[in-house]
Amino acid sequence: MKLCFIGTGYVGLVSGVCFADIGYEVICVDKDKEKIRRLRNGINPIYEPGLDELIQKNTNADRLTFSDNLHISLKKSDIIFLAVGTPTSKDGNSADLSQLFSVVKQIKKIKKHKIIVTKSTVPVGTNNKIDKILNTKSKKRFSIVSNPEFLREGEAIKDFKFPDRIVIGSKSKSVIEIMRKLYRPLISKGASFLSCSLESAELIKYASNAFLATKISFINELANLCEKAGVNVEDVAIGIGLDKRIGPRFLRAGPAYGGSCFPKDTKALITTAKKYVSPLSIVSAVVKFNDERKKYIENKIIKLLGSNLKKKTICFLGVTFKANTDDIRDSSAMKMIPRFASLGIRINYYDPSGEKNFSKKKNIFFFNNLYSATENIDLIVIHTEWDEFKNLDFKKILKKNRKVNIYDLRNLYDTNYFKNKKISYYSIGRP
Ligand SMILES: NC(=O)c1ccc[n+]([C@@H]2O[C@H](COP(=O)([O-])OP(=O)(O)OC[C@H]3O[C@@H](n4cnc5c(N)ncnc54)[C@H](O)[C@@H]3O)[C@@H](O)[C@H]2O)c1
Repeated sequence: MKLCFIGTGYVGLVSGVCFADIGYEVICVDKDKEKIRRLRNGINPIYEPGLDELIQKNTNADRLTFSDNLHISLKKSDIIFLAVGTPTSKDGNSADLSQLFSVVKQIKKIKKHKIIVTKSTVPVGTNNKIDKILNTKSKKRFSIVSNPEFLREGEAIKDFKFPDRIVIGSKSKSVIEIMRKLYRPLISKGASFLSCSLESAELIKYASNAFLATKISFINELANLCEKAGVNVEDVAIGIGLDKRIGPRFLRAGPAYGGSCFPKDTKALITTAKKYVSPLSIVSAVVKFNDERKKYIENKIIKLLGSNLKKKTICFLGVTFKANTDDIRDSSAMKMIPRFASLGIRINYYDPSGEKNFSKKKNIFFFNNLYSATENIDLIVIHTEWDEFKNLDFKKILKKNRKVNIYDLRNLYDTNYFKNKKISYYSIGRP
């Protein structure tokens, strides 16, 4: 079976490379010619641990190729995966499906039978629409499958190769069996295989993300209470997480959730629910709380800086929405930094994944050395939980500063760690 991935982004590239690594012949297609040119030259366009090596290995083995020619790639392949972006529309709430439907339009030109698998996250009913566009009552050239992706950036290869579950939505039993065969190498290592309707598969993805966003917001809101009540949120998280019905994961208090999925998917789910006149009040409360959390953290930072903001410098350690990725989509740092800079506060920032593109650069300075970024500053904000921030050399930092405030949004240090009176340490939900 020859596979084609349309959209060579975080999902399409990782999935395509991993399928090649389990032995399939894969073409990764993207309309971004520069991205394809770089991939052909062995340059990985995204930061994802372990991905460079797998691209190299599978390109050398002739199982993995890259193309910007959609039509030829479609013709050569048996199973076509749609992995294009489904960002938030201009209305700020619904999913923008324009990338997806522009590809569907191209697929319609193909004359031979193909299996079309939607990996992109799409609202309930989208795959049925694709079915209606591609197939007429008399001619059923295309088999439609909904196969949502659950990988996490930063751990994407492990997540792809050892998924908790593989969800396949389809109207056809024989196509489900083809998909089961395709995924057999992962199923044999323990992944659960769930087949269901197209609509169920679509909703499983949104419901998963909304549930995880709820868990994060739940512990973040409890962290606010802990700060006022003198309770340690980490003890609470451990205490509730030991209950098997709750589980310990996604109970780490921190900044507002961000990234390319939770913010857009929670909003798109609320929009879908409104369309069906079945409002989701809990998910709506989660989105509202998450927006308020950004302001809560911002206000706390301003308070820590005190008066005379125009003379103050903040050092941001990490700006990506999580560690081990270069993805800054909907990262809270990318919103906070320009706002602080517009108040006249100088921002130094360091991120292991490199410099980022701020539309206005006034007062914003990138450093490619962590300790240079911490010179002559008033406050360090630990925004992202990169490993290299877990063991900072505070002696070195104090050499260039008389006193330092640290606001650790990831609780990377024990509250008793700082014996030095020149360091004031603040964290999330801990006395
Ligand atoms: N990023 C994640 O962690 C993650 C996890 C699970 C699911 N998803 C979902 O997977 C989908 C893809 O997400 P992503 O983060 O990989 O997006 P992305 O923006 O990184 O990648 C999308 C790619 O599609 C390409 N593209 C757009 N239109 C095209 C066309 N007509 N022809 C060829 N290529 C085209 C773009 O150039 C881009 O490279 C989204 O629906 C997202 O919600 C993402």
